[in-house]
Amino acid sequence: MVTQLPLDGAPLVKNGPTGVTTRLARDDEAETLCQIERSAAQAFRLIEAFSWLSVGDVQSAETHRRLTAAGTNWVAADDGDRPLGFLSAEIVGSDLHICEVSVGHLHQGFGLGRRLIEHAIEYAAARGLEAVTLTTFRTIPWNCPFYERLGFRILEDGELSPRLLELMDREDADGLSRDTRCAMRLDVGA
Ligand SMILES: CC(C)(COP(=O)(O)OP(=O)(O)OC[C@H]1O[C@@H](n2cnc3c(N)ncnc32)[C@H](O)[C@@H]1OP(=O)(O)O)[C@@H](O)C(=O)NCCC(=O)NCCS
Repeated sequence: MVTQLPLDGAPLVKNGPTGVTTRLARDDEAETLCQIERSAAQAFRLIEAFSWLSVGDVQSAETHRRLTAAGTNWVAADDGDRPLGFLSAEIVGSDLHICEVSVGHLHQGFGLGRRLIEHAIEYAAARGLEAVTLTTFRTIPWNCPFYERLGFRILEDGELSPRLLELMDREDADGLSRDTRCAMRLDVGA
């Protein structure tokens, strides 16, 4: 539950979605998931230096369909089975790499993001994978600090696998400066 204080001082209580379940995305939801990512990006408007991300590109519907077919694209859906957020990942070697996680702007802050990431961690462990990896922004409160609270750790430059090094170089070339980014890893193997 999030409590906001409006100007007249009377507390205004915002309730979160009820009956949320986590399940695999469906093929016909790809465009909806693109819209959810656009909505999620409104969160970046809160931080001036990153506000440009609020109108940035989103993961393509084609990628959603590919990861859905691979069985590594999950949604958090409401009690009417409507997706409110998603987590897209792919298995690369012995890692599950989180490509994107987004929760629609109006539904952020109710634990859906945490739930999706925990689902991905459980999936990786059940599949006998070694780790869950991702790249993210170092200072944005709902990025690196949040993942650290979930047990992920920042990989120093010397620890980056060729795959993560190449990914960060590609992100840098796409305008996501290396100075602002980090790669993170959570070991899930026995
Ligand atoms: C990241 C994201 C998916 C999290 O989804 P969510 O449903 O809001 O997640 P939760 O409600 O579980 O909250 C996530 C954490 O972020 C923190 N957080 C959320 N909004 C915040 C804000 N405005 N300021 C500070 N912390 C914030 C919460 O405290 C929470 O941490 P906690 O569980 O340890 O207390 C969602 O914020 C989002 O879509 N953001 C925009 C896209 C994005 O940044 N994607 C990740 C790219 S790496």
